[in-house]
Amino acid sequence: MKLPLFLPLIPCAIASCIPHSDIGTWSTLAPIPLFPRQEHSTVVLPPSSFAILGGVIPAEVGANTTALVQLYDIPTNSWKSLAPLPVPLNHANAASVDGKIYLLGGLEVASDGAWRATPKSWVYDPAEDKWTEIESMPVSEARGSAAVGVYGKTIFLAGGMTVLHAVPGGQQGTVSAVSAFDTVSGKWVALPEGAKAIPEGRDHAGAAVVEGKLLVLGGRDQGQANVKSTVFALDLERLGEGWTTRKGAMPTPRGGVAAAVVGKKVFTFGGEGNPAEGSRGVFNQTEAYDTVQDKWEVLGPMKVPRHGTYAVAVDGKVYVPGGGISIGAGPVDVLDVFVPGK
Ligand SMILES: *[C@@H]1O[C@H](CO)[C@@H](O)[C@H](O)[C@H]1NC(C)=O
Ligand SMILES: *[C@@H]1O[C@H](CO)[C@@H](O)[C@H](O)[C@H]1NC(C)=O
Repeated sequence: MKLPLFLPLIPCAIASCIPHSDIGTWSTLAPIPLFPRQEHSTVVLPPSSFAILGGVIPAEVGANTTALVQLYDIPTNSWKSLAPLPVPLNHANAASVDGKIYLLGGLEVASDGAWRATPKSWVYDPAEDKWTEIESMPVSEARGSAAVGVYGKTIFLAGGMTVLHAVPGGQQGTVSAVSAFDTVSGKWVALPEGAKAIPEGRDHAGAAVVEGKLLVLGGRDQGQANVKSTVFALDLERLGEGWTTRKGAMPTPRGGVAAAVVGKKVFTFGGEGNPAEGSRGVFNQTEAYDTVQDKWEVLGPMKVPRHGTYAVAVDGKVYVPGGGISIGAGPVDVLDVFVPGK
C-alpha cells in the first residue's frame, strides 16, 4: 500500500505568505564565553568568522552594558576575545567592509540610567587588534538600533533609536533617518531627498541587502508593543527614487527581529513584543522573504526563541549568537546555526 505523502505545512494568515514544507534545521554550537549577551551587534569577518560587539550582560539589577568584543571561528567552533570597544555600548550599528569592522554610533549608558545615542564611530583593524576613532555621524542623526546594510564600500543606516529608557513607560526615541558612511573617504555622505528617511520610524528592525536593494524588515515604533510587519526598500543604485513599501508584509509583525540573507531570500528570526500568553513576550517565528516573488514563507519555530540579536549568514548557513529569551533583558549564551531547507 502506498502511503500518501504528508507535508507538515504551517498555515499562513495573510495573502502574501505561502507555507513551506522543508523548514530547515537548527544545531547548537559553542556558547558565547564569559557572559550571556543581548543587544550586541554581529558582523561577519570573512572568510569564516564573525564578531559580536558590546551589548548587555546580566547584572545584580537589570543589565549592564559591556565593551566586550568576541570573535567566533566557524571551522574550529571556538571563540576568542578581541580588543574591547573604546566605550561600553549596546544597540551599536556595525558592519564590516574589506575585512575591517566599522562601529557607527550606538547607545551608551547615560547618568540617568537611560541608554542614549552617541554619534561616535570607530574602525577596528584585525591585523592590529585595535580600534581607531573615525568621523562621528552628524550629531542630529546619532542613534543606535539602526537597520544596517553594506553596498560596495558604503554603509547605510536606516531608522534606529535615540534613547531607550528601560523603565515602565520609559521613552523610546524611534527615528526614520537614513545615513550613509563612505569607508573609502572616511566621511558621512549626503543622500538625495527621497533616500533620507524611511517611510515611518523604525528601530529594532531586520536589515538585508539583496541585489542592490536595502530592505528594512519589521521593527517597531516607540516601544516594544508597537510591532510592525512592513518591508521598506531602497534601490542603492538609484537612491534618487527613494524608499518604497513592498506589497509582501511579514506574516508576523516583530521588533527585535534578526535577519540574514541566503541567496535571494531573507530569513528572519524571533523578536520581541509577542502578546501571546506563555511566550514571555518573545516570538519564536522563522519566516523567509522571497525577494523575487515579494512573498513570505512560514518556516518552523526557532529552537531557542529570542530577540535582541543579529543573524549572520556564512556559506549558506545562518548563525544566531545570544539574544534575550524574555521581553526586556534576558540574555543567553546560546549560539545556534540554522540551515535553510530546499
Ligand atoms: C554591573 O554594574 C555595576 C555598576 O557599575 C557594578 O557594580 C557591577 O559589578 C556590574 N555587574 C557585573 C556582573 O558586571
Ligand atoms: C511558537 O509561538 C506560537 C505563538 O506564540 C505558539 O502558538 C507556539 O506554540 C510556539 N511554538 C513552540 C514550539 O514553542
